[in-house]
Parts: sequence; C-alpha cells; structure tokens
Amino acid sequence: MRSLIDILELDVTEIKELIDKANDIIANPVKYSEKCRGKKLATLFFEPSTRTRLSFEAAMYELGGNVLGFSEAQSSSAAKGESIADTAKTTSCYADIIAMRHPKEGAPLVAAMNASIPVINAGDGGHNHPTQTLTDLLTIFREKGRLDNLTVGFCGDLKFGRTVHSLINALSRYENIKFVLVSPEELKLPSYVKETLKKNNLEYVQTTDLDSVMPELDILYMTRVQRERFFNEEDYLRLKDSYILRPERLNTAKADLAIMHPLPRVNEISVEIDSDPRACYFKQVLNGKYIRMALILKLLEVE
Ligand code: CP
Repeated sequence: MRSLIDILELDVTEIKELIDKANDIIANPVKYSEKCRGKKLATLFFEPSTRTRLSFEAAMYELGGNVLGFSEAQSSSAAKGESIADTAKTTSCYADIIAMRHPKEGAPLVAAMNASIPVINAGDGGHNHPTQTLTDLLTIFREKGRLDNLTVGFCGDLKFGRTVHSLINALSRYENIKFVLVSPEELKLPSYVKETLKKNNLEYVQTTDLDSVMPELDILYMTRVQRERFFNEEDYLRLKDSYILRPERLNTAKADLAIMHPLPRVNEISVEIDSDPRACYFKQVLNGKYIRMALILKLLEVE
C-alpha cells in the first residue's frame, strides 16, 4: 500500500506514467467510467479549498466510485479534540483512500502513518501540495510537449507558496531547467528549497523585477500572496499587490509563453489576461481532475 505525501516520492518514470494515463483518460473517458465501482474516497479537508476538493470528488465520481468526507475542521470531531491519528484510523474503517488537506505541515504524513488505506496529501500548510504539482506537470507537458529545456519563472509569494516549493522540487529532476525566482525581498524562496537547487547545480536567478526577465520565460507561474500564513496583517497589506500581471506587461513576453497559476487568484492576474491564448490557469483546473483520476487508479492499484 502506498500513499503520496511529497512529490519526490514519485520518480520521473512514474510521473510520466501518470501523465500518459491522464492523457488517455482525457482521450477515452468512457473506458475509465467504472474502474472504481464500489470504492470510496474520503476527503478530509481541515482547511478551505475549491479546486482540490472538488476535483478529487469529481475524479472519483468519474471513475464510478463514491465520496464521503468533510470540508472544514469544525464539522468533524477535530473540533472536539480528536487527533489526526485517530481520525485516520476511523476513516480507514469507512473508505478505501483518503485525500487530506490540513493547515499544519506534516499532518497528512501522520495520517498516512496511522491509516490502513492510502493517504494523499492535498496540501499541508506552507509545505507541500503534490497533486497540484502533478496538475502543473501535466499542464506543462500538454502545453509544451516536454518537461525539460524550459525557463520557468515563479512570481509572487515564493516563501509561503507550497505549490511553488513542490513544483521546484519536481522540476529539479529534469534536464536544462532554468529557474527565475521573482518576489519581494520578504517573500523570497525559503533556504531549504534553494538548497535543492544548489545541491543539484541548477541554474537560478533571483530578482524583484518581473519585467526585466519576462522576455526569456517559457512558463510564468504566478502565485497569490498567502494572507493566511502571515503573522502580521500590515505586512500582508504592504506586499499583497507586489506583482499584478496586466496585458501591457506581456508586450515583451514570448508568443508561446504559458501563464500558469494554481489559483485561487486574488489580484495578481488581471481578468483581461483570461482571454489571452497564453493563459493556462483554467486549463490547469481541468487537468487537475484528470491527473487525480490517474493517481487514484495508481494508489488503489486498479488496472
Ligand atoms: N490550487 C488549489 O489548491 O486550490 P484550492 O485551494 O481551491 O484547492
């Protein structure tokens, strides 16, 4: 039995297999519509979510399975003081697989250590979000036809953005990726993630100036400033609009730039960009359902 807590638990061959499977599901959805008949997914969400929870639930329904769970800690026995370990043991009595989101780093790992069914980390604090990373990799592959030889810009809150940390770790295993890290000084990439780049001798630049690096980017991965992780509201208000992508900012961008964002967006991408053919963030949302279908099949060992 296998869980997924960190994207690095999947090697590049397995990631390619998941991407291939997701592409086959997209091309042949009927073939997969009964694969999880009789199986149940438990979505245990202790923190708000729209895309991750709904895409997991849609994924299981489209595989012919069923879904149970809760969408906030207050409606579970966590509100009465139940531990993560006991919640995981209890859920193992009712479901076949768990998707868990939690504000505390490491909570899904504790669940996996205590559950008797696979646990998928659906986002833990500022730490990891492996299924968003699979979504991002599928999107990059579908847009660019490759996962190597790319210049990838990450812009915004690189300190607290768990999707950034997971995607940098994942991309660090592919050939000739150049990382361009754009953020205010206070929201720079944490040193433990930068260590991965240094350890693997990967090329990266850090800057506060998005416009100066725009022409070289193949991918621009915008992120929201994570209000919920700030200790001080004043700092959030000062930093929240550090980067706003407006149409004129794209004048120097490549014609085939892929603009990505894990969403939710607050103010960092103007809605006028949505109709630009380079905007990929709603394609990402849809890809998230297909890659989660592929992952559920893998972890449930469904042929
Ligand atoms: N990308 C993402 O995790 O979105 P949600 O918080 O809406 O699940």
